[in-house]
Amino acid sequence: MGIKKVMVIGAGQMGSGIAQVCAQSGYEVLLNDMNEEALNKGLKNIEKLLTRAVDKERITSEDKENTLSRLTGSTDLSDASDCDLVIEAVVENMDVKTDVFRKLDEITPAHAILASNTSSLPITEIAAATNRPEQVIGMHFMNPVPVMKLVEIIRGLQTSDQTYESIKEMTNQLSKTPVEVNDYPGFVSNRILMPMINEAIYTVYEGVATPEDVDTVMKLGMNHPMGPLTLADFIGLDTCLYIMEVLYEGFGDSKYRPCPLLRKYVKAGWLGKKSGRGFYVYE
Ligand code: NAI
Repeated sequence: MGIKKVMVIGAGQMGSGIAQVCAQSGYEVLLNDMNEEALNKGLKNIEKLLTRAVDKERITSEDKENTLSRLTGSTDLSDASDCDLVIEAVVENMDVKTDVFRKLDEITPAHAILASNTSSLPITEIAAATNRPEQVIGMHFMNPVPVMKLVEIIRGLQTSDQTYESIKEMTNQLSKTPVEVNDYPGFVSNRILMPMINEAIYTVYEGVATPEDVDTVMKLGMNHPMGPLTLADFIGLDTCLYIMEVLYEGFGDSKYRPCPLLRKYVKAGWLGKKSGRGFYVYE
């Protein structure tokens, strides 16, 4: 059965972006958040981004109106009862995610696929909270969703080929590039990115160079669009630490140990851009 109606759960920075691209690609979309204020903020943000796209003549005002007409807000999970696909983008916490998946398993039709946008939690474990592990899969979008072309598609231990093919096809419909990945800590993206960021932090910690100089080396020397410490501040240092812990625990290899300086900053509340201070200071 084809995917026509989609619920996106969590109207934060990722969920609102995912809802936007799904609606722009012709899917009927319910954007759900348990917090009404967060939901309204997410919906407003989508409208703002679409208006900006019209102003820049990337889409027409008719495209904008059509997209918005396919998008509805929801604060009730049971609205997922006629959805073909649910994409979960709530906080990165296993207990919260398994609770959502357990409820979705009861609410959604038997054919529905349940996807998670988790950046580090095992899909196999999330799937085990349901009675349909073969229909559970990871759809890891990148931030900012409307701009970034990649979707890492993570196959849990029991994810079926049919589920994988449906999600791959949908990702293409969203004009994004799917990459198939098996379910191991950090998948591919964060397994490679986070140790690089962690090593950049070690380089500062050991006094080899300043954050500015580390970033300059990677930007000008390796042609990275932004340095690893600037990127870490954007991602959030708490998120970086959390993902390093997942890698360290999952592989049991000391090469993934989080840098003590990263721990110290997180303990101090220096979480990067969102808290006003990380490796850099933000006004
Ligand atoms: P966020 O904090 O901006 O948004 C999360 C939203 O979920 C909030 O609006 C919150 O009210 C809502 N929420 C929490 N529990 C809920 C529940 N039980 N039911 C309904 N809504 C609920 O978080 P963000 O950054 O959008 O991340 C969401 C997910 O996406 C996480 O799993 C994260 O690891 C993943 N991710 C984040 C990326 C990033 O760069 N921020 C990149 C790729 C994945």
